[in-house]
Amino acid sequence: MGILSEKLSSVKPSQTKAMTERAASLRAEGKQVITLSQGEPDFQTPDRICQAAIEAIRAGHTKYTAVAGIQSLRKAVIAKFQRENSLNFTLDQVTVGCGAKQLLFNALLASLDEGDEVVFPTPCWVSYPEIVKLAGGVPAPVETRVENGFIMTPDDLRSAITDKTKWLMLNSPSNPTGAVYSREDLEDLAAVLRDYPDVWVLSDDIYEHLVYGDTEFCTMAEIAPDLASRTLTVNGVSKSYAMTGWRVGYAGGPAELIKAMNTVQGQSTSHTCSIAQHAAVAALNGDQSFIREFRDAFKKRRDQVVGLLNQIPGLSCKAPDGAFYVFAECQGLLGTRAPSGKVLATDMDFALYLMEEAGVAVVPGSGFLADGFIRISYASSEEELANACAAISNAVSRLSRTQGAA
Ligand SMILES: Cc1ncc(COP(=O)(O)O)c(C=O)c1O
Repeated sequence: MGILSEKLSSVKPSQTKAMTERAASLRAEGKQVITLSQGEPDFQTPDRICQAAIEAIRAGHTKYTAVAGIQSLRKAVIAKFQRENSLNFTLDQVTVGCGAKQLLFNALLASLDEGDEVVFPTPCWVSYPEIVKLAGGVPAPVETRVENGFIMTPDDLRSAITDKTKWLMLNSPSNPTGAVYSREDLEDLAAVLRDYPDVWVLSDDIYEHLVYGDTEFCTMAEIAPDLASRTLTVNGVSKSYAMTGWRVGYAGGPAELIKAMNTVQGQSTSHTCSIAQHAAVAALNGDQSFIREFRDAFKKRRDQVVGLLNQIPGLSCKAPDGAFYVFAECQGLLGTRAPSGKVLATDMDFALYLMEEAGVAVVPGSGFLADGFIRISYASSEEELANACAAISNAVSRLSRTQGAA
């Protein structure tokens, strides 16, 4: 009998992390690799936020805190939800954890019984199915289509709900597609949910501030206040404030669920780092103007990458409305042969080929439950993105058609 639990045997390691680590080991061997596999902004955390952390250390804020987070942070979270989402929470309705990721874990561990199903649209973030499984639930992925802009339709949702469904998990803007649910999209889904009073909504808003052009960000609890009593809104400082390493996420929802999430966290990590919590207070309460600067830079890079990728025969993508990813279709290149003689049968083969031949790390779509795509993060400098796209183009031009290939 091995040491590993049966539960873990079905849980896959993150392909995003796997590709990034592979790139790092190639780099350690002296190879040049541009990493477009990582889901984090390349900007530095703004200085005033770093200063708040330094001051917190000097002021001796280096001890355990309340499980749900220091009061000043929970107040900052309440003010943020009020200011930006018109959501009103009290102190017992918000909590703070080690990144949005831990809050998703806490919520599912606190609410799922063995066999309960969690519906989410695919392509989805690599961690959704795995977190659901670790929490004892059953992932119920629902395929969305390129033609619909990767948006889950009301019919998709209705046909996925069973009497075991506990949650609908929504992520807008989406990782990996960048799709953003409009007010109307959410209203349509809310109309379906009204027929199923036992289904809760988990809204993962981590990319909230990264929407481009005229796109409006909306969240379910705001669009459908009547569903707020069964909605958990999760967010964090990682992506909007370039604070991925600080590990601060937060959530707002019904007090009973928040209390149970605190119980889970109280028996695991206790709370996120006290110093990082003080930095997050500064992030949420202070000047927000750099968010616009980040957003403008990302939009420019998005347009650059989309333009360059669409010039490569066999690759195609639309300009996504949000987040910092391009999800490019590579179906037309599958079945081609690399100069080594290897046939690229899957998107994983293609991603590995790009890593070895182009020196560019991307993530295969299969990691997001969508075969025939690659995800490219454009949270890198314009120069790196230009070099990466040129290298991809060059590597693709060296592929030859095999008989019967598309
Ligand atoms: C969709 C989605 N949700 C949540 C997270 C987790 O963010 P955090 O760094 O706050 O744990 C990520 C990070 O990549 C993400 O892409």
